Amino acid sequence: MTFVPYDRPVRAAFIGLGRIYDLNVRAYLGSPDVEVVALVDPSEERRAQRQPDWPAARTFASAAELASSGISVDAAEVLLPAPLHADGVVEMLGYGWHLNMQKPMCNDLSEAQRMLDAAKASQRILRVMDNYLFYEPLHKLKAAAQSGEIGEVAGYHMKMTGSGLGGWDVPVSSFMWQLEQMQRGRGILVFDDGWHKLSTALWLFGPVREVRAWIGNTHVGPGVDIDAPATIVWEHDNGVRGVWEITLAMDMYLRSDYYTNDERWEITGSKGYARVNRCTGRGIQQPSLEVYADGLMRGYHALDDDWASSFRDSGRHWLRWLRTGVGPLSWSGEEAVDVLRLALAAYASSASGGAGVNPSHLS
Ligand SMILES: NC(=O)c1ccc[n+]([C@@H]2O[C@H](COP(=O)([O-])OP(=O)(O)OC[C@H]3O[C@@H](n4cnc5c(N)ncnc54)[C@H](O)[C@@H]3O)[C@@H](O)[C@H]2O)c1
Repeated sequence: MTFVPYDRPVRAAFIGLGRIYDLNVRAYLGSPDVEVVALVDPSEERRAQRQPDWPAARTFASAAELASSGISVDAAEVLLPAPLHADGVVEMLGYGWHLNMQKPMCNDLSEAQRMLDAAKASQRILRVMDNYLFYEPLHKLKAAAQSGEIGEVAGYHMKMTGSGLGGWDVPVSSFMWQLEQMQRGRGILVFDDGWHKLSTALWLFGPVREVRAWIGNTHVGPGVDIDAPATIVWEHDNGVRGVWEITLAMDMYLRSDYYTNDERWEITGSKGYARVNRCTGRGIQQPSLEVYADGLMRGYHALDDDWASSFRDSGRHWLRWLRTGVGPLSWSGEEAVDVLRLALAAYASSASGGAGVNPSHLS
């Protein structure tokens, strides 16, 4: 499709004003590229809570009410509960809005196709944001791997520990739809938060040709099952292998301004390694990136390693993109389907006892 950039600030609406609004909003506050014209959420409490951020914006209980209000909207920031993504996105593309939606895109390939078809039919842009791709330490990690300073890339490792103590409050209502997702086999660690890890794998080393997985389950309470321990390994088309281990540590306190997720990315090269020590939480109190080569360890002490900054930069990239049409969307709808395929390949492999699955062969 031909996209014509806006020669004026984009008129935007927030759809969903829950927990993650607190971080997505950072891109919009103070941006010259946008005018926020509407706030949508069925919760009156949420609408009242967010209105002071945008005193001139009108509030609505549903996207349909906004669409029939006569207010002109160019683009929406879609922060809906994941189970509502597919239907919500199809509906809003039908209103003629460009969409920047939160991950996970949706739960299966048929929903994804429905969303891509709707974008095509309406000639609108569907972006599935991934803030991790805008986290400065991960950018420097990628640059370290590409620069040759650690030699030829030999493999990499990602670690993620979900801990039960610390961090910001997550309202029970935000957790309720996660329970629904768990019951559909789309767990909170592998699929919801894990979406980002799979996304960084594709972003770092490109397409994946084989995935092998062993996804476990920990029953932590009535109706609450967490998809850990889990181990997922894969091989990229370029031959680089990755491994991702997911662990649950219910009683571990993790200092965090956000979720209690202790994360690591480590790329091993033929003559050294580069490692991101933390992201969402403040686990390891060393520089967020360390690069070891030739007997020397270099620590990056001055990176913008506040996880919230990645939301700001991802959102600003989108708003700028709407004004210029320049650069990759990170991710387009089609690229997000590759992330979905990677997750679905992990599930298929685990269900078959760990057999290798090619994500592109899934239908
Ligand atoms: N990028 C990240 O790291 C990250 C982190 C957390 C959440 N998320 C994603 O963000 C999305 C939202 O998560 P959250 O934690 O903010 O959830 P939440 O439950 O806190 O917020 C969702 C909001 O949507 C509202 N809502 C429900 N139905 C609606 C409708 N039909 N129209 C408009 N609003 C509606 C709810 O009232 C609620 O206020 C999910 O897709 C989640 O996976 C991403």
